[in-house]
Amino acid sequence: MLERQSHGRVPEAPHTQLRAVDGRLLYEHCITRQGFDGPYTIAYHERRPHEALPAADAPVTLPPANVSPERLLRRHYASPRSALDLEPFPRHRGRLLENADVALSLAMPTRSDPFYFANADGDELYFIHSGSGVLRTLLGDLSYRAGDYVYVPRSLLHRFVLDAASAQHWLVIELRQPLDIPRAYRNSVGQLRLDAPYSHRDFRGPTLPAPRDEGLRDFWLKTQGSLQKYLLPASPLDVIGWDGSLYPFTLSIDAFKPKVGKVHLPPPAHATFEAKGVLICSFVPRPLDFHEQAVPCPYPHSSVDVDEVLFYSRGGFTSRRGVGPGSISHHPRGLPHGPHPGAYEASVGSKHTDEVAVMLDVTLPLTRSALAESLEDVGYHGSFVASAGSHSTG
Ligand SMILES: [Fe+2]
Repeated sequence: MLERQSHGRVPEAPHTQLRAVDGRLLYEHCITRQGFDGPYTIAYHERRPHEALPAADAPVTLPPANVSPERLLRRHYASPRSALDLEPFPRHRGRLLENADVALSLAMPTRSDPFYFANADGDELYFIHSGSGVLRTLLGDLSYRAGDYVYVPRSLLHRFVLDAASAQHWLVIELRQPLDIPRAYRNSVGQLRLDAPYSHRDFRGPTLPAPRDEGLRDFWLKTQGSLQKYLLPASPLDVIGWDGSLYPFTLSIDAFKPKVGKVHLPPPAHATFEAKGVLICSFVPRPLDFHEQAVPCPYPHSSVDVDEVLFYSRGGFTSRRGVGPGSISHHPRGLPHGPHPGAYEASVGSKHTDEVAVMLDVTLPLTRSALAESLEDVGYHGSFVASAGSHSTG
């Protein structure tokens, strides 16, 4: 997906001998995407990486996101104030919206993962609304902080180590098909173009420490919506080197360099990542449109082939009343959406926006979970009617 990186010791050629100082043969581990046709990384282990055995614990089945049938409405969910509602064992996740291509969850963990984890169901992209810590992976450690996107490739063994003093609040985007950066941002050799909204320097890969043993042997694997536990015979953090183009990374949303138009630009101008059926956009502070007659506020629109989800992180959200940091809105296809009453008119003459938000356009209709239903601001749909008065949630 990104430029090749190389860490630690690797042999001159793949699939040739690499030996430890005492002469032992080390174990090559090829991690490949799209069969053997996509990006890959080759790691070298002290021990055989394929010896985990099933634990006696019963699998944990995650609740489906399928509240239905229900009326099509524009909906708004406020993040909960604490993690209490978001902790299906053993992970701290609360799934809100889902279709066959993507699942959106909130996470507000209060402890570091006391186990290793891998998601066989897809890539994970986190948006760190608040919190900091370290993503510890088979391929090394990656620090994260508020404003970061954190990418964890499918099936990569990892765990989150939280900064103790830091309240964590994450949006979790789980993708069934590989995440990539938009093809239009690459030149003919795959390099990011000079007019892309970020450069290779903005992506931070892991650092690889020496092999170590944290004393953890539990390994949870997510597959087909259930969590299954395995036991590792030894520490999995035994990689002494790797190289390749498939690895976890962070990208700060503050590194995203937005485009500014003479008149209002549609969301794909802010495209950041994509996967089959999913476009992820970053809305960041920027000057607004510079046509002397411009209406900077987003126009009412019917984007009839997608559902739109917005996660609001910081700044002022001029086109919406009632949303605040941590809010999630879901505007389904089939119903036009647009600014709240008065916002369209009030935007004339605005020169700057300081909003920070993550937007997803998804191709397949989203269904929602009982958790989402419990978090719903039920007055939201009606709040777009000018005669309905002020929106109730402030
Ligand atoms: Fe929209």
